[in-house]
Parts: sequence; C-alpha cells; structure tokens
Amino acid sequence: MKVLVVGAGGREHALVWKLAQSPRVKKVYCAPGNAGTAELAENVPIGATDVATLTEWAAAHDIDLTVVGPEAPLTAGLVDAFRARGLSAYGPTRKAAAIEGSKVFSKNLMHKYGIPTAEYRVFTDAEEARRYVRAKGAPLVLKAEGLAAGKGVIVAPTEEEALDAIHTILEEQAFGAAGERLIIEEYLEGEEVTVLAFADGEHVLMLAPSQDHKRAFDGDRGPNTGGMGAYSPVPALTPDTACRVEAEILRPTVAALAAEGSPYRGVLYAGLMLTAAGPKVLEFNARFGDPEAQAVLPRLATDLVEVAEATLAGRLDRISLAWRPAAALAVVLASGGYPGHYETGFPIQGLKEAAAQPDTLVFYAGTRREGNQVVTAGGRVLAVTALGSDLKAARERAYQAVEMIRFSGRRFRRDIGWRALRS
Ligand code: AMP
Ligand code: GLY
Repeated sequence: MKVLVVGAGGREHALVWKLAQSPRVKKVYCAPGNAGTAELAENVPIGATDVATLTEWAAAHDIDLTVVGPEAPLTAGLVDAFRARGLSAYGPTRKAAAIEGSKVFSKNLMHKYGIPTAEYRVFTDAEEARRYVRAKGAPLVLKAEGLAAGKGVIVAPTEEEALDAIHTILEEQAFGAAGERLIIEEYLEGEEVTVLAFADGEHVLMLAPSQDHKRAFDGDRGPNTGGMGAYSPVPALTPDTACRVEAEILRPTVAALAAEGSPYRGVLYAGLMLTAAGPKVLEFNARFGDPEAQAVLPRLATDLVEVAEATLAGRLDRISLAWRPAAALAVVLASGGYPGHYETGFPIQGLKEAAAQPDTLVFYAGTRREGNQVVTAGGRVLAVTALGSDLKAARERAYQAVEMIRFSGRRFRRDIGWRALRS
C-alpha cells in the first residue's frame, strides 16, 4: 500500500520511519517532510494545512492511508475532507479534534462527564477575571482558549502575575483570536506524564507512557518550548495509576466524545498531572506528541498499519500492542535562541556517524538539504533517540550520539530523564 504522512517535524520523521517498516507498505510519501523524511519517503511539496491540495493529491496518487502528524490539519478538517473523497485518513475529525483545538470545549467536556481535571472558570471579561483572581489567590494557571503553539499557558505563582496574564491574554490579545476566551484554573502539583492511546471511537488501546521536558533549560528552567526531550517508560506512573488513567480518563473521554456525537478516532494524547489525589488531565491533544513520539514509537513492535486499519474498522478491541523490551530516551537538539529568535541555514555535521551508533536513531525536524549538506531550518532541529536495557543505558547512548552532531548554535538539555534517573 501507499502511505502519506502529513507534517514536517521530528514526530513525522518517526512516523515515516515506523510506517516504512511495515511489510504492507510499498511506498511512503511525506508532505511537506524534511531532510530526514526524504531519506525514507518521497517528500511532496504541499503544506500540512493545505487541505484542499492534499486531498486532490492523495486522490490522484491512490494513497491508501494518510497519517496526520500535527494538530493544525486536524482542526482544519483534513480527515473530514479525505473521508468525503473516500480516502482513508488516520486521525480525528475536525469536531473531535476540538478536544485540542478549544480548551473551553475540552474543559467543559471533562466537567460534564466527571473526568478528573483542575477546577476552572471561563472568562471573556477582564474585570470579572481580575475579581476571580483576587478572590481565589495565587498560584493559578491562565490559558488562552485556542491553539497558541504551546505558548498560551501562563503559570502564575503570584496574584500579580495572574493579573498581568489576564491583561496579556484578554486585553492585549497577545494570542489573537485564540485568546478571546480565558480559562483560569487551579494549580496542580505533581509529576507530569504523557499517556497516548489509540482510539477507534469506542475502544481504547493505551500506549507506553512517556515524559516530555517542556522547559528550555536544565532543571526545568526557562521558557516553555515544544519539548526538549522525552523518555519512555515512566517509572512515576505505576501500573496501578496506569489502570486508573485508563478507567477514569481515557475510556470516559472516548465515551464522552461518542455521546456528544463526535466519536474520536486516532491518537488521543492525555497530558496528565499525577497529583496526591490521583491523575488529573492538564490537556488533551489530538495527535502524537513531539518529542514523545520519538521516544515511544521506537519501542512499539506492533505494525502501525495494523493499528490504523483496526482503528478505521472500529475493531481496536481485537488487537493488542507488543513492545520491545527496551527503554528509550530522546534528546532534542535546538537552534541557539530557541524558543525565541534564532538563525538558520547552518550546516549539520556528524549525522551519519551518530545514526550508525548501535540502537540509535536520528529523527530530523527543522532541517533542509542544500546540495550534499543538511542544514538547520527551524527551532527544534532534530532528536536523537537511543534504546537501552534501561533508561540509564538509553541516556548514555543518546548523549554519546548527541555529542557527535554539531552545528553552529547547537543547544540541548543535558538532563533529559532526570526525574526517572535521580537516585
Ligand atoms: P498545557 O498546554 O495545558 O499542557 O500547559 C502547558 C504546561 O503548563 C503543562 O505542561 C504544565 O507544566 C503547565 N500546567 C498547565 N496546567 C496546569 C495546572 N492546572 N497546574 C499546574 N501546571 C499546569
Ligand atoms: N510535546 C508536547 C506536545 O507534543 O504537545
């Protein structure tokens, strides 16, 4: 079969890499892809959110299965458009993807169906929001309703900062239309974990947990980023708590979306806080995480095509997932200055040497080929994933390979996995 992956990041390189291993797959395309996907797939120069052109292209090229990486094409209705043309696309419809696209939708859904999450209120009026903050007191978390590339969340340790955040989101409209509505929620304490699940509208198949590192600098300091590294499994998520996540969060959420008339098919991403009172939802996403996918997919032994087909047929209850008996740790290499301003176009050295290390994978993100040279072309440039008998071995291997890759301004966190590995 012919498969199309939509997107251009490290997650999409990992998806291409995984799908290319399926005995069922003859050819993989990636739109628009990057310098890494170009080595395993044919890149197609169509933007990930150009739904109309992607639909035409997939129909004209008899694509059997399309797998969507990022959220934007999902909330733009790619899956709906493909389905209307009789094309198979893996991922939620526009309506179901609102679980990521609108934090108000997702909070209200959780509230209505009793799914554990932080207490919250929704505001459009700044004065009302300020009164609420003064009544509640800090710490609080303030969130712009819509998609803001991970930047629309402000954790306010003090009342002062919460009041500033109200001004930024509602009055300055720093996040544009995404900030027309503001959520103010209770600050949750605990360890964060990402749990991904395959869902077919009815059944849920939980993947191995992972943990992202969202802050830019070591020790979880500095601004939030798309994610600077990830590892899997996560010792902090005990088997008991994992069962609770499935029973109290994943299954009820999929059932809730079905009851609301928008059954969820695809990967459901639950960003969780493991609080003293049990696991609670910080956010849902409608897709694989990036860089969580780069840590989780290399551990997954099951054919992703088999999962996608079972999903589209609504028979996920008939399959189970097999895992390689290894831990994985992924370190993101970013451009100097990311997540703020950064320069691009710097040649990257050592890619082949790093990828030739045992049990080591290099997933490209913001990269471009210029002649024989791969150059930087984005904030997060690539991720190095290593597998090992345990997380410590995986970390050692990953950092050995990281040191082999060089480009001007290269920056990475040296403490990926620290929560699991501190002892
Ligand atoms: P979100 O995009 O909603 O996951 O928020 C981004 C980050 O903000 C999360 O990964 C958490 O670190 C933090 N965060 C979000 N909501 C809360 C909360 N209610 N309590 C504490 N931290 C939070
Ligand atoms: N790594 C966080 C995300 O993919 O949303």
